[in-house]
Order: sequence, then C-alpha cells, then structure tokens
Amino acid sequence: MHTTILVTGATGTVGKETVIQLSLANNARVRAGVHSIIKGENLKRLPGVEVVEMDFKDPESLHAAFTHADKLFLITPFAAEQFEMARTLVDEAKNAGVKHIVKLSVLGAEEEPGIHLGRWHREIEEYIEQSGIPYTFLRPGPFMQNYANFETENIQSEGRFYQPTGNGKVSCIDVRDIAAVAVEVLTGPGHEGKAYNLTGPEALSNQEVAEIFSEVTGKKVEFVDVPESAAKDAMVQHHMPEWMADAMLELQRMCKENRYSATTDTVQKLTGRPPHTFRKFAEDYKECFMQGEKQ
Ligand SMILES: NC(=O)c1ccc[n+]([C@@H]2O[C@H](COP(=O)([O-])OP(=O)(O)OC[C@H]3O[C@@H](n4cnc5c(N)ncnc54)[C@H](OP(=O)(O)O)[C@@H]3O)[C@@H](O)[C@H]2O)c1
Repeated sequence: MHTTILVTGATGTVGKETVIQLSLANNARVRAGVHSIIKGENLKRLPGVEVVEMDFKDPESLHAAFTHADKLFLITPFAAEQFEMARTLVDEAKNAGVKHIVKLSVLGAEEEPGIHLGRWHREIEEYIEQSGIPYTFLRPGPFMQNYANFETENIQSEGRFYQPTGNGKVSCIDVRDIAAVAVEVLTGPGHEGKAYNLTGPEALSNQEVAEIFSEVTGKKVEFVDVPESAAKDAMVQHHMPEWMADAMLELQRMCKENRYSATTDTVQKLTGRPPHTFRKFAEDYKECFMQGEKQ
C-alpha cells in the first residue's frame, strides 16, 4: 500500500517544488492541499498527485484533505494567524491518525530570545511536540528564491535591488534543496524527533549576489544598502502590514550582522548531493531578472 502524503501550502514556493519532487520520486501518493483549486490546476497533471482544496482558517474544509493521510508536510504562510492555522492543522492531523508531521520551520527557531519569526515557529514546533505525533522540523535559512519572488521588479526596471543588509553575508538556500530534503524525510526512515538546519553551500553578501546577477544576465545589477527606515517605508508602501515589516527588518538585521552566514552539510548528508550554489540558482532563474530591459 502506498503512503499518502498531504502537503499544505502546495502552491507556495516550497510546497509546489516538494509536490513536484514527490511526484517524481514515484513511491508515494501525494495530496496537494491548495487554497484555491484554480492556482493548483498545474499540479493536477503530475503523476500520483491529487489536488484538494483547504482553508486553514476553516476547520470544516480540512476533513477531506486529511482522509487516509499518513504523513503531513506542514507549511503555513507568513501570516498574522500562522500559529492558529498550524494548531488547526495539527489537531486535524491527530484526529485523522497522521503518523508523521514534517514542519517547515526556520533557522534559529530554537534560539532564545531569538527573533519574532523564530519564536512564532518555535511555538508551533512545541505544539507539534505536545501532540504526541512523531515529527521532524526542517529549519532553513533565507531562500534564494526570495530574490525571484520579491526583487525582480526593481532588478528588471532599474538594475538595482535595495536592502538594509550592508556587507552582511548570508548562506541562502535554494528551495529545491529544501524540497529534496523534505522528500527524503517524508519517504525515508529514521528522521523522527530530529530538527535539521538547512543552508546553502556558501555565504554571500548582497554585493556578491549583485555581481553574480550581473555576470549571469549580462546587464549591470547593483545592490543598494538602505537605512532600515527607508526599507520599512517601501514595505509599507507595498501594503505590507506594519508588524510584518518590523519582523522582516529584524530578520534583515540578522543578515547584516552575519547571523545567517554559517553553513551546514545537512543537504549533502540527507540527499547525497551538494546544495545548489547561488550562481546555479541565478542561471536557472535568469529569466525572472531579464524580462524588460533597463532603460
Ligand atoms: N522566505 C524565506 O526566506 C523563509 C526562510 C525560512 C522559513 N520560511 C518559512 O516558510 C514558510 C512559507 O513557505 P513558502 O515561502 O513556501 O510559502 P508561500 O510561498 O508564501 O506560500 C504559502 C502557501 O500557503 C497557502 N495559504 C495561504 N493562506 C492559506 C489558508 N488560509 N489556507 C490554506 N492555504 C493557505 C498559499 O496559497 P494562496 O497563495 O492560494 O493563498 C500558498 O500556497 C513560512 O512559514 C516562513 O516563515 C521562509
């Protein structure tokens, strides 16, 4: 009998990549939990994948998704209600007899006092620990894909990106490596009770990132170090709630202070291959940064 793995947030950055890789691994039935069926349309075509609609804020909508689910990859969005959402999912997992929860957390979640983002994730981790369901925590550092998700507009239009991170170096991780680790943990034995710190292979400053983008795209890309106040104004102007902008600034302060510059060999150990370099990420996502040439 195939194991059924439910992936929540399946149209998101990590969820989507994990569903694709689980489908290719071909040894599990994958249930992709999507917020809206329309966004999940592409996932339906993947072999071994069924798509189910679920709203974390509506417990009634979760029953169908959890029916006969053996394992859960728990991904919640960066949202004000993230703890409540996760608690609802864990409660439902318990009711449904789920045997293993793999939670997408964040690097440094266990640190005290740590930062807000880490503490919010740790609160969810603790709720999972108390549920009695075997668990594994994946704690990645900042994603390389953040550049593709949040910086393309400025890079495409001005050839610049702005962050308050100074010369700080960060060992960003490619989400394809997080997904590969998730596949291993969800389909292989021996990961229960573990927390894995996941990073890319090297720490780079944003100046170095800009140089890589310039080389890969063939057009000049510059990093502009900005004061926190300017970064916050830009986030709020883009309709980010103030609490979220403050949490982002706290995270970026950590980047500036080289607090995410350490690297781990966990991706290599768990997947048998080295994590993607930033250059490889930039090459593979080149089109995101190229569309619309600098005027
Ligand atoms: N970005 C980073 O550098 C980084 C680093 C470490 C850890 N993390 C953690 O990674 C997690 C986010 O992962 P991600 O970047 O893959 O997420 P993401 O791209 O923001 O996607 C979030 C997913 O959750 C779904 N969703 C949102 N509200 C929902 C609801 N009410 N019910 C059901 N589904 C809902 C979204 O669907 P819709 O779009 O249809 O709403 C989407 O599929 C966060 O916990 C974050 O703290 C991020």
